[in-house]
Amino acid sequence: MNSDEIIQNYHDHINPGLADLLQLGGLAAVDDRAEGSYVWDMDGNKYLDAVGGYGVFGLGHRPPKVIQRVKETLDRMPMASKIFVSPSEAELGYVLSKATGYEYFMFLNSGSEAVETALKLARLTSGKQTLIGMTNGYHGITYGALSVSGRDFYKEPFKPLLPGVKIVQYGDIEALRNALDENVAAVILEPIQGEGGVNVPPDGYLRAVRKACDDAGCFLILDEIQTGMGRTGKLLAEEWEDVRADIVCLGKALGGGVVPIGAVGANEKAWQGFIDNPLIHESTFGGNPLATSAGIASVQEILDKHIWDNAYTMGTKLINALKSEAEKYPNLIKEVRGRGLLIGIEMAQEGYGLPMMGFMLEEKTLVAYALNNPRVIRIEPPLIIGDEEVEWIANAFSNALVKLQDLAKDLEV
Ligand SMILES: Cc1ncc(COP(=O)(O)O)c(C=O)c1O
Repeated sequence: MNSDEIIQNYHDHINPGLADLLQLGGLAAVDDRAEGSYVWDMDGNKYLDAVGGYGVFGLGHRPPKVIQRVKETLDRMPMASKIFVSPSEAELGYVLSKATGYEYFMFLNSGSEAVETALKLARLTSGKQTLIGMTNGYHGITYGALSVSGRDFYKEPFKPLLPGVKIVQYGDIEALRNALDENVAAVILEPIQGEGGVNVPPDGYLRAVRKACDDAGCFLILDEIQTGMGRTGKLLAEEWEDVRADIVCLGKALGGGVVPIGAVGANEKAWQGFIDNPLIHESTFGGNPLATSAGIASVQEILDKHIWDNAYTMGTKLINALKSEAEKYPNLIKEVRGRGLLIGIEMAQEGYGLPMMGFMLEEKTLVAYALNNPRVIRIEPPLIIGDEEVEWIANAFSNALVKLQDLAKDLEV
């Protein structure tokens, strides 16, 4: 099948609306293969993957050690008996516990499921009901995760959602303090909001949230599904403020970009509900050997390479390069922000997001706009990029801005 036929099939049998949108934005191409920081489409074009599967490809595409470990598992026992203990599940628990300091882990199949698990654990252990989420927060598409997310557009058609949820202003510690009472089981937030538009909260905010949770006697859940595994310049973004959550959610890059996996980790106090009720929350495929062996190899690779250091160095260079381009076009770009290789470019107008994606694609650079904030283009390349890739993205941005400026002029006429 050629790429036109594949896109037609996608249109006819998967998602007609998205297929039309991709065509409209000049984004309709078909994946062929990928390696390191690059992706090739079926027509042989090579792209720098500057969106990295929304944070999945921390180690780049097909990291050899992860692939090797998964292949060995494939040949030995890809799915667990579910009767005996799975060695790779136990090993990943050990490896992650050593790396992060959280004592207990459960493995799921996606980030959304990890969030569901965290919310249920908080209610189970605390015996309380209220959950507090944040404006513009994004925690996934399942009912619980959606309920604690912060954008009404995605929530409205699916109501009624989970009862007992309050949403407070992200970054505003007083708003959180006012919402806390003795019925709150947990507060959930991202250390830096990804889908919300790469929102970095004020310095000291996470520490203040930790204290407010302690004062109120509720659990703090940090969703590090996008910020974790080195992306912001630390293994976990909580380290920027020396904060430790009670419950942490991981996903995306944890599977090394090879097998999907979600994880929830917690300290012993928060985990007590699962200790007392060992079978109350389960998943057929959660913790399967393929996913957990990918997790082990990817955590080892992240630790061996200190990948977060490169993320920070390259991220700082890239943010500076993008900022100096953006300054030339205050009518097009409102702000460039982020930390490490979690970067957001806020367009001056929402309508600029889609054409900007298209122009970056013409420059053979994959980027995406943020789900909760279509004004913001996200740049989340693999954490293994070097100077060459930083330059590639900065040049692509510079050329795309020239094209967007022309388009903006045409639109004004
Ligand atoms: C912070 C955060 N939490 C949760 C999720 C949901 O993860 P998944 O799409 O794997 O269900 C995402 C996905 O983008 C995310 O960025």
